[in-house]
Amino acid sequence: MKKIILNSEIEELSPEELDHIEQALLSRAQTISKLAYAPYSNFNVGAALLLENGEVLQSSNQENVSYPVGTCAERIVLGYAGANYPTSAPVMLAIVAHRAGEEKWAGVSPCGMCRQAINETENRFKKPITMLILSASGTVLRIKGISALLPIKFDDLNSAGLEY
Ligand code: THU
Repeated sequence: MKKIILNSEIEELSPEELDHIEQALLSRAQTISKLAYAPYSNFNVGAALLLENGEVLQSSNQENVSYPVGTCAERIVLGYAGANYPTSAPVMLAIVAHRAGEEKWAGVSPCGMCRQAINETENRFKKPITMLILSASGTVLRIKGISALLPIKFDDLNSAGLEY
């Protein structure tokens, strides 16, 4: 047997340590999270996506009474970007969340389906996406590329995705 130990590099910063572009992107995610349509979970998520051309797109999560029909904030904004800006690579994605009625920000981390969608976008544009995630303690996790969150991923129909 061979043991494989995987390493993921995740940076944890105070918000003041972020540069202005990063701070602005997080702020856009916070603002849009207030418009979430999440009457079933009351978990309001905001995602803001910076494109290579400087544009920022944003979305919140949009739920459905048939729960699986609801869509995460990240996949909505990535889908919109892919459909409307097919020539501009997404480079940075800020993700925040708060529970309805609560002042403080909740911890959040992209779900497995969103990780797969982020991975597809990275492959499509051949560029890693830096993720900024606001933690419950108020620090920001900065993750440069989805591989740190999705090791041994499925992204090749010919190999089994076991390159790491
Ligand atoms: N959700 C997101 O929009 N993004 C995440 O990263 C985590 C989960 C949504 C899905 C659902 O509407 C609600 O949060 C609770 O799971």
